[in-house]
Amino acid sequence: MFPIETFNLTKKFNGLVAVNKVSLKIKEGEIFGLLGPNGAGKTTFISMLCTLLKPTSGRAKVNGFDIIKEQNEVRKSIGIVFQDPSLDNRLTGRENLEMHAGLYGVPKEERKKRIDEVLRLVGLYERANELVRNYSGGMKRRLEIARGLIHYPKVLFLDEPTLGLDPQTREHIWEYIKKLAEKENITILLTTHYMEEADALCNRVAIMDYGEIKVLDTPENLKNSLEGDILMLEIKNGKNFFEKVKKLHSVKKIHIAENKISMTVRNAEKFAPKVLEFARKNKIFVNSISVRKPSLGDVFLHYTGREIREEMGEGKEMMKRRARIL
Ligand SMILES: Nc1ncnc2c1ncn2[C@@H]1O[C@H](COP(=O)(O)OP(=O)(O)OP(=O)(O)O)[C@@H](O)[C@H]1O
Ligand SMILES: [Mg+2]
Repeated sequence: MFPIETFNLTKKFNGLVAVNKVSLKIKEGEIFGLLGPNGAGKTTFISMLCTLLKPTSGRAKVNGFDIIKEQNEVRKSIGIVFQDPSLDNRLTGRENLEMHAGLYGVPKEERKKRIDEVLRLVGLYERANELVRNYSGGMKRRLEIARGLIHYPKVLFLDEPTLGLDPQTREHIWEYIKKLAEKENITILLTTHYMEEADALCNRVAIMDYGEIKVLDTPENLKNSLEGDILMLEIKNGKNFFEKVKKLHSVKKIHIAENKISMTVRNAEKFAPKVLEFARKNKIFVNSISVRKPSLGDVFLHYTGREIREEMGEGKEMMKRRARIL
């Protein structure tokens, strides 16, 4: 049995298709990432799996339970950490967990032991009796993760677990997530629009855009699927030079933005001097040239034709579309 299985899962908000016929199977013990920009449909997808939103069509099972017919069983068997924080700032860390353990019916005699256990897991045991109001952003997020684990869920949903945190705190949280996946033996489905996060944490990643899964594999295979390295070139003059570069043999995929070009090429180290020579002949002044291995950002660009960083404008556009519909 797969802890998470979806079949053509679809959600429409009036005219807008937020999640479009998504079918996937997530394996036991896996850390699975949904990577996509703002508005891709990530939160909508996991909200359906958590039974917080009803699908428009399609089916899904979580821990073997049907998300429409067996909502209570689904809810009891999962832990959720959502994008918007929902801790009580007036209580201490421990009190927040006690409240949640009560809500989820963790037997009284087990509560203290379990609370201590999850506090240790996220490194907050020593700070548990302080008011959450005085916690840092990273501590709050760790407490939320601990809270999602209190009732021994088999599947944990993490919606943007490190959103808004600084890079150092983010890496810290990745370590905790890896540790809990090992120690608690659970399956984790997380969403993110940070490609480094998907790369560092996930066993498999699905790239999501406009509600659809574009490609799904291990980060390693996804990066290898580009079959080449990334060569970046920045020039000072003559943008139509790029049109000529495009036609050069061995350029597989290109993306042009202003005076920069990024190309997927085989044997990039050998190709780079040729490009420089070509530029010199065409009297083009090159500002910089670099070669690197593909990142998941390049994979995203390859399969969607857009940069994941274009997310801000995208988000605004989505908000407008949403406003028009509502
Ligand atoms: N309740 C709603 N009513 C109408 N439209 C909605 C609703 N919830 C989400 N949408 C729309 O569905 C699309 C997907 O939104 P969703 O929140 O799932 O994206 P996301 O990938 O989680 O984005 P983000 O990275 O910003 O969290 C967006 O276009 C959004 O505007
Ligand atoms: Mg979201």
